[in-house]
Amino acid sequence: MKIAFVGKGGSGKTTLSSLFVRHLAAAGAPVVAIDADINQHLGAALGLDDAEAAGLPAMGEHLSLIKDHLRGTNPRIASTEKMIKTTPPGEGSRLLRVREDNPVYDACARPVELDGGTVRLMVTGPFTDADLGVACYHSKTGAVELCLNHLVDARDEYVVVDMTAGSDSFASGMFTRFDITFLVAEPTRKGVSVYRQYKEYARDFGVTLKVVGNKVQGQDDLDFLRDEVWDDLLVTVGHSDWVRAMEKGRPPRFELLEETNARALRTLRTAVDATYELRDWARYTQQMVHFHLKNAHSWGNERTGDDLAAQVDPGFVLGEEVATLA
Ligand SMILES: Nc1ncnc2c1ncn2[C@@H]1O[C@H](COP(=O)(O)OP(=O)(O)O)[C@@H](O)[C@H]1O
Ligand SMILES: [Mg+2]
Repeated sequence: MKIAFVGKGGSGKTTLSSLFVRHLAAAGAPVVAIDADINQHLGAALGLDDAEAAGLPAMGEHLSLIKDHLRGTNPRIASTEKMIKTTPPGEGSRLLRVREDNPVYDACARPVELDGGTVRLMVTGPFTDADLGVACYHSKTGAVELCLNHLVDARDEYVVVDMTAGSDSFASGMFTRFDITFLVAEPTRKGVSVYRQYKEYARDFGVTLKVVGNKVQGQDDLDFLRDEVWDDLLVTVGHSDWVRAMEKGRPPRFELLEETNARALRTLRTAVDATYELRDWARYTQQMVHFHLKNAHSWGNERTGDDLAAQVDPGFVLGEEVATLA
């Protein structure tokens, strides 16, 4: 199950991503946690100290390795250089699974021990100015998008991405790569304006979008979010002393998280799990092709000197069955 946490900077994406990862780990579920936020804090939120967080390998620095692995023997992809972030898998491509060892995890993932279980953590690496504009070929989130487009995840396996809601994720198609997107919003006008923008982009792509209200204190905050967001409001989280203690570098045991917040995390998992029935691998594959053609046309063909539409394998559909055959 692929889950994104998006929202305005400071809304609590990283905090809620990390709490949800801890919740899944405590329940014994296999988890890959990915930090694709502009401000790279997921490692710290999962309890790594500064040195450990700084020592994490950056996916952005292993883009060639990632492409080379995923390309496999796919004859439609002539070389690593011709593979862009939206190049879809086809026959011969290598797929990724949540619970396996593979060269991508070897290079880019590190185990993080949490109460109850160990998760894999991957980070894009810090963003530079070049990453925030229209830089396409070397885009750091491109490494994440490639992995998601080659991932075959089953029920009860989780990939949690802490992500910035920016133009990059809309142009590339990244925002359509999830079973569910949790938009974290504080009860403020700015918080809900990010929601509106996201909703607008998401409308035509069948994106399952749910709002998680954060730092919600009292009825007035709740009423505000309900008025602005209506049915898309899934649950709200209040101020957490547990989070505060963690930020001071003294994380209490996870089972000591406030009961109301623990309940909110269970609500998130229930919402995630319910989307399994909505899965449509054919549509998922069509969408990656759609965004690949769009990116090929707008910059990829020019950049690589090839017609990248030829990379699309018309008979290929990603799915759990494909993975068993591969
Ligand atoms: N529910 C909460 N209770 C207490 N502190 C919170 C809560 N949510 C977020 N924070 C704090 O707010 C700040 C911003 O949160 P963060 O998760 O880093 O936001 P984002 O990743 O969206 O930029 C952090 O210091 C975080 O600890
Ligand atoms: Mg963050």
